[in-house]
Order: sequence, then C-alpha cells, then structure tokens
Amino acid sequence: MEHTDHVKQLISIANAMVADHKGLVAIDESVSTLNKRFELAGIPQTEEYRRAYREVLITTPGIGNYINGAILFDETVHQQTLAGVSFLDELKKAGVIPGIKLDEGTEDLAGFPKEKITKGLDDLAERLTAYAKSGLKFAKWRGVILIDGELPSTACILSNTHALARYAAACQRAGIVPIVEPEVIMDGKHSIERCAEVTEKVLSSLFEQLYLLKVELGGLILKPNMILPGKDSAQKADPELVAKLTVNCLRNAVPATVAGIAFLSGGQDPVTACRNLNAINLDYKAELPWPVTYSFSRALHQPALEIWKGKTENVKAAQDSFLEMASACKAARSGEYKS
Ligand code: 13P
Repeated sequence: MEHTDHVKQLISIANAMVADHKGLVAIDESVSTLNKRFELAGIPQTEEYRRAYREVLITTPGIGNYINGAILFDETVHQQTLAGVSFLDELKKAGVIPGIKLDEGTEDLAGFPKEKITKGLDDLAERLTAYAKSGLKFAKWRGVILIDGELPSTACILSNTHALARYAAACQRAGIVPIVEPEVIMDGKHSIERCAEVTEKVLSSLFEQLYLLKVELGGLILKPNMILPGKDSAQKADPELVAKLTVNCLRNAVPATVAGIAFLSGGQDPVTACRNLNAINLDYKAELPWPVTYSFSRALHQPALEIWKGKTENVKAAQDSFLEMASACKAARSGEYKS
C-alpha cells in the first residue's frame, strides 16, 4: 500500500501500541463473560458493579508506565468514574490509548458441528465511524478455532480468517488500527505439537486473506495464542519449549512487516503467561522482527478482581495487584522477568 498520510497515521498508532517495551490490557470482556467472572468471585452482576470494576482498573495510578493501550467493551466507552470523568478522558490522562472490541461474539458455523464463526460484520462501517469520532484509535476482533480430533475444518479456518481480514480492512479505512485475534483455544486434550500445526495453518490462512483484502501490515497488530498443550492433555511444556515452538510458528507464518505481536493469555495463570512471554523475548531476542508483547485480560487483572470482590475498601489492594502484574508483564516483554 502506498504510504499516504492516512497509512502513515495508522502505522504511527500501531507503533505506539507496542512501544517502549510496554503492552496492552484487555478489559473488553462482554457483559456475559464479566458477569460469569463476577459470579465466581461473589460479586453482584449489575451494570454498576461492571462500571466500578472498570474504574478500579482504569484509575490505577501509574498504569501508563506499563500499558500503552486498553481494549474496552462498548458499555465502558460510555461510562464515567464516580467523580464524573469519562473513562476515555481518564485513559487519555494516564497516557493510555483507548481501543474497542468490535466483534459481537460467536455463533455456530452452519454445517460444521462444534465450530464457531464470529459475528459483527454487518454494521461494521457505521460502528467504526462512530467509534473513530469518539476518539477510539484501535479495535479488536476475535476468531475462535477449536482443536478436536480432525477439527478445525478448513471451512472454519477460512471463514474466520476471511472475516478477520474484512474487519481489518474496514478498520483501516476508518483510520482505526485493527488487532486481529485468531485464537486457537486451549480447550482439549491435544498435544503442543498439534497446537503448533493448527496455529501455523490458521496464521498462514490469515495473512493470505489480509493480503487479498489489501490490509497494510505496518498498521496492524496480531494477537495470537502461544503454542501450548491442550488444557486437558497430560503433557507439560516448560517455557523453553513453549518459546521455541511459538517463535518457530510465528517466524514461519507472520510477515516481518507486521507492526507488533501482542499475545492473549488464553487461560494461563499470570505466572505461567509471564514466564512463557519472558522465554520468548529472552531466548529469541535477536530473531524476532517484531516487538513481541502482551495483550492479556485474565493474566493481567484476574487476581485484582478476586482481591476487589466488589468492595470499596479493597480498591487500593486490587490496584496494587493490577500494577504488580502489569510490571511483571513489562519485565517479561523485555526478557527480564523473575518469577
Ligand atoms: P485472555 O488474556 O484472558 O485470554 O483474554 C484476552 C482477550 O482479549 C480475549 O479475547
């Protein structure tokens, strides 16, 4: 793509999202996902508690030292702190770029039992225009790929990577940087080698689709899974093996021009996610053509949620925990994490 001012602007936002050895935080859990986490932690599942939780995270003093960007859910974009400051203004004050989850969750992929396709393409252009006007600079779209026996089907991979590419092209047209998240989920008994094989196939398909739809890779962030054994497999993988297979997969399938790679945590506990990210950056520093960082949700702030428990008197301790995790992630992004 020709580097017009429009493209230069996209590249500059994408670079800022992964700059200074910092990363991203995902606080874009849908209403139902966050309610499920609240239920497990004994927190009332209301709009006000969801707002209050987002306030705990967004107003944590010093987050801008560790976090370049925050992915928000639509509900949060329109909310404010108890003191009446909009969350978007709070983020701006903290030096954190605001982004938005644009996908609308998944539905069954017709004709392919157990497989999913992501919803949300229909009114995308209108939603993008409105979000760009509100000051949101980047977006996220998640495709879900399940490993189960012969699955994923080629149809599922292609349907999801095509949707991701259409979303990415629409984002760039609206001046918004797309985060593309093709998540090969950890559920299942598969081996780490099978995860590597499937992830490489998915990423190769994704970059073919992005090429077809003329997406500018310098103005795009990839949010992949790490290469891990299935959650229910007996296989254990140490950080050195995870790093080796993850880097191998990324180097085989991801063009060097992509602005940055920011992993999801995918259900790994915070320490494991940091140890794995650390090994990637420590052992392969010289071989990574992109900044490789974090865009975690659970591994960054699940401990804070469990400490907060919906109680004002726990806000400070929850914020301390969030900041501690963010600092650990930043260390891991530089290969300097000590667990
Ligand atoms: P986790 O880090 O909890 O996997 O969440 C990342 C995310 O944004 C999921 O879409």
